[in-house]
Amino acid sequence: MAIKVGVVGATGYAGVELLRILLGHPAAEIAAISSVSYTGKAVSEVYPSLQQICDKTLVDEQAVVDACDVVFASLPHGLSENIAEKCDQKGALFIDLGADFRLYNEADYTEWYGGLTYRDTALHQKAVYALPELFREQIKGKKILGNPGCYPTSIGLALFPLLQSGAVDPDSIVIDAKSGVTGAGRGLSLTAHYPECNEAFSPYKVAMHRHTPEIEQTLSIAAGRAVRVTFVPHLLPVNRGIVSTIYAAGCGKQSAESVHKILTGAYAGEKFVRVLPLGTVANLKNVKYSNYCDLSVHFDGRTGRVILVSAIDNMVKGAAGQAVQNMNIALGLPEDSGLQFVPPAI
Ligand SMILES: NC(=O)c1ccc[n+]([C@@H]2O[C@H](COP(=O)([O-])OP(=O)(O)OC[C@H]3O[C@@H](n4cnc5c(N)ncnc54)[C@H](OP(=O)(O)O)[C@@H]3O)[C@@H](O)[C@H]2O)c1
Repeated sequence: MAIKVGVVGATGYAGVELLRILLGHPAAEIAAISSVSYTGKAVSEVYPSLQQICDKTLVDEQAVVDACDVVFASLPHGLSENIAEKCDQKGALFIDLGADFRLYNEADYTEWYGGLTYRDTALHQKAVYALPELFREQIKGKKILGNPGCYPTSIGLALFPLLQSGAVDPDSIVIDAKSGVTGAGRGLSLTAHYPECNEAFSPYKVAMHRHTPEIEQTLSIAAGRAVRVTFVPHLLPVNRGIVSTIYAAGCGKQSAESVHKILTGAYAGEKFVRVLPLGTVANLKNVKYSNYCDLSVHFDGRTGRVILVSAIDNMVKGAAGQAVQNMNIALGLPEDSGLQFVPPAI
């Protein structure tokens, strides 16, 4: 019997990407999908790419919770706690694509998310930060999953094994990351307005982006002590994709070969993390529409600095694909179920 899954916030960019992926999942049946602005309309009216593939009518949030065994929430932050609570009461799996269950330290959430607090701390204690390749064992069998942010996914995967093995200095990390415009969601804004972002390129939220505490949470777990990073995101005038270029001082005698060996060892057997051969550079073109994270390793022998390039699709490995990967792990399904699509070459 198919697993009944539902998406709250199915009309957003990450939500509709979940539909695209779940429609191809062999064990899942999309039972209900919700919207506030488009309730009563077919989702294919909002996104014509879904015509005759998914013409489901958008309902309200409660109807999704009532109908489903697995509920994905793809909403602005601050709206997920109530849904998680209802899922918890009925024993459904809840996967939050937003930020409400990502941070273990409530004070960080309050500081970086406009003073919001955790209303039900016991509920948060049941949640796990679900970056599959790093925390797989903790995800298995859990009922509340905080799906990671897009930038933190690309950065955590690149740096975790190097910090864990002591290959780089935790106090030296600088991250220069670029995201396509879909990262900002479907809502209209001046920065995402075509003439404003097309043929433009600039950093934004310099050293004050909300993903900073989430990145630091993962890296601190890896290093076994508090890590602070300098994180500067940029808005790239493409629709999708993230490239993070990461700089850190090597510890001891490091080389491209030694760093590459650590990463290939850490990700041996991991389907969705591809450590590229030395001499090649990760490129968002090669991961678009896929659940892959491509990592390339470089070493500046003159300065002793390790340079990592990490590329993902922000809406797949950075959101919906990773959420489905997490569902698979939590339910004991094959981890790549529904995620076997190949990235287009061009
Ligand atoms: N875009 C990405 O690349 C990406 C990557 C990783 C994580 N995320 C996270 O995923 C979540 C969704 O992001 P997105 O980019 O898909 O955003 P989006 O395109 O702006 O979509 C937001 C969704 O939330 C719904 N919504 C907005 N305000 C609401 C409210 N007050 N009550 C109930 N529903 C409301 C919208 O529904 P209606 O307009 O139909 O009512 C829409 O379905 C965010 O937390 C974001 O941080 C996004």
